[in-house]
Amino acid sequence: MTEKTPPPVIELTNLKKRFGIGDAAHYALDGVDLTVKKGEFIAIMGPSGCGKTTLLNILGLLDGQVEGSYKLNGQPLESLSRRKQSHIRSEQIGFVFQSFNLIPRLTVLENVALPLLYKGDLKIKRLKKASKMLKTFHLGEREFYMPHQLSGGQVQRVAIARALVNEPSIILADEPTGNLDSNASHIIMEELSELHKKGNTIIMVTHNPYLTTYASRVITMLDGKIDTDTFHLPSTPAPYSEKIPLNKTESEGA
Ligand SMILES: Nc1ncnc2c1ncn2[C@@H]1O[C@H](COP(=O)(O)OP(=O)(O)OP(=O)(O)O)[C@@H](O)[C@H]1O
Ligand SMILES: [Mg+2]
Repeated sequence: MTEKTPPPVIELTNLKKRFGIGDAAHYALDGVDLTVKKGEFIAIMGPSGCGKTTLLNILGLLDGQVEGSYKLNGQPLESLSRRKQSHIRSEQIGFVFQSFNLIPRLTVLENVALPLLYKGDLKIKRLKKASKMLKTFHLGEREFYMPHQLSGGQVQRVAIARALVNEPSIILADEPTGNLDSNASHIIMEELSELHKKGNTIIMVTHNPYLTTYASRVITMLDGKIDTDTFHLPSTPAPYSEKIPLNKTESEGA
């Protein structure tokens, strides 16, 4: 019994994020306490402006100007140099965000292979991996397209494939299915589910109550604070073909 339990993946204590100064100061996060263990799949909900994206940005080390404490894998944020932070970002964290930018001059395949560069694998190996990922997202036939030749939903799926290609252990997703039809949303949720089953930690913001059925824990936020925090066993979601309004905030009369 000497084995130490690993620290939580994420530990926030009285975390605050202020925008603006003086009279214009506003706390987008106003005292968040949150502990996330490895392998949790958390869905975060809450009204527009309550601080969900701000929270994900901080968790993903995109914004370090905070009050309170943030420990990532037991290490306080302030003890991590910028270099170390960007290393962690590229190796361990996958962002699936609302605004996706593909590089216009690269093919779809090259775009997806990009995050693998840092590993120093040979190009052929990187492209093979990227190709496999694209197939998962049913985009195998679009490998050699340029981004401008894709539909908006396809761009989004390519960007998600790119975010997941290096198998990040922490996945931060901000409305990952926001602009997608139910079929494309299904592919993405299934992939996130798969990653969850493999033991990865997922934190997903969504306005869609139906998508919370994939999660093992549902957090609601209000005015920069955590309002409710509920653990549950992820249920097997009904097939998407059951006409669930995936792109709407209201569903099932909620
Ligand atoms: N860069 C910024 N400068 C000033 N205020 C900001 C900035 N980013 C966010 N805010 C403010 O912080 C609050 C929380 O914003 P945030 O984007 O986190 O909301 P959200 O919960 O993600 O909303 P939505 O559901 O609409 O995406 C809002 O009041 C917003 O105006
Ligand atoms: Mg947001």
